[in-house]
Amino acid sequence: MTIGVLKETYPGERRVALTPGSVPALLKAGMQIVVEHAAGEASGYSDHAYTEAGCSVQSDRNEIVRQSDILVCVRSGGADPEGWETSTAGLRSGAVVIAMMDPLARPEEAERQAKTGATLIALEMLPRITRAQSMDVLSSQANLAGYKAVLIAANALPKLLPMMMTAAGTITPARIFVIGAGVAGLQAIATAKRLGAVVTAYDVRPAVKEQIESLGARFLELPLDAGEAQGSGGYARAMDAEFYRKQAEVMTSAVAEADGVITTAAVPGKRAPILVTATMVEQMRPGSVLVDLAAERGGNCELTKPGETVEHHGVAVMGPLNIPSLVPFHASQLFGKNVANLLVHLVRQGEIVLDMEDEITAGALVARGGQVVHEAVLAALTAGRPAGSA
Ligand code: NAI
Repeated sequence: MTIGVLKETYPGERRVALTPGSVPALLKAGMQIVVEHAAGEASGYSDHAYTEAGCSVQSDRNEIVRQSDILVCVRSGGADPEGWETSTAGLRSGAVVIAMMDPLARPEEAERQAKTGATLIALEMLPRITRAQSMDVLSSQANLAGYKAVLIAANALPKLLPMMMTAAGTITPARIFVIGAGVAGLQAIATAKRLGAVVTAYDVRPAVKEQIESLGARFLELPLDAGEAQGSGGYARAMDAEFYRKQAEVMTSAVAEADGVITTAAVPGKRAPILVTATMVEQMRPGSVLVDLAAERGGNCELTKPGETVEHHGVAVMGPLNIPSLVPFHASQLFGKNVANLLVHLVRQGEIVLDMEDEITAGALVARGGQVVHEAVLAALTAGRPAGSA
């Protein structure tokens, strides 16, 4: 079984799907690993490090594609449609592609790519269950994004985060308000606390109150009935527009008091809810910042422009994209370990086994045999088609 590791082609993507440190378990399981020349260069892993680890390195990308039983990428499919075109010509029918593919947001790409006959495994679709935790790239990367979001906010603020008592006077600590305390939010809370800020956080799932408090932050109690918000696997359910409107209203003063707001509120497969309106931003002090981690899903702030910083009434509203790629060394280290754990799970006696009784396989398998087979992706396809069309 040959695993191909390609150099990423998506603009600005500096991660690599397997690192030298993640390959020993694969080699031990009898797999061969072929890495494209310079695949790890942008993340700090040299060709030499891969060959030392037991991989072979080749320059001919098409040849790697042709000889691979399994191709692993950080982004493929809908997460890099152009890259799909250039990377997969020559892919064997039935070859397996494992990558982030964004199939719920771009189901039409999944359908188009399924027609090549490739088996598509989308890493974002892995179920959030204990057994799959070690394979979960969304969690491993969101954790880094939460950390980095605080550094982005700290850098943009005209203030320091910690309290300082100096001979020239006392500096009061900055106030950071984190909205959404999932993986990214909890790491943002922990990082802001470590840097000395006074941190308040809110999440629509009441279960996280204890986690927020155990990090030394204050849980903001809001007069909202969020009883329905707890979904499965630590994810939230979508609430109706009236709930979000009410939530924005009752969060207004917490947003206004913050020097930095970090928003991470997400509902799987849906556009991010708008929780911070332009009017709320107008009530923040000039010089304050809002870092919207949900920018990729449209943003939690009404003013967010994905990939840009918008100045509004003296407040910087930042919508950074692909934050894990800003720390590509560690992002790749964790991503690679996730991918290796998934491969070890899927490959048995030198063959990839797609056991649909297995929750992990059934959750992540998007297409095989020329067709999309994932229920949620099929539903997204149907939802996106005009009524009456096939
Ligand atoms: P997650 O699902 O673990 O956390 C999202 C949290 O938002 C959950 O705890 C959920 O209960 C909460 N939430 C949902 N609706 C809410 C509401 N109305 N009010 C308050 N909280 C609400 O997701 P994760 O992995 O922490 O990711 C968070 C966000 O960060 C996502 O939008 C994700 O796409 C984004 N992200 C962005 C990156 C980037 O480079 N920009 C990188 C990684 C993640």
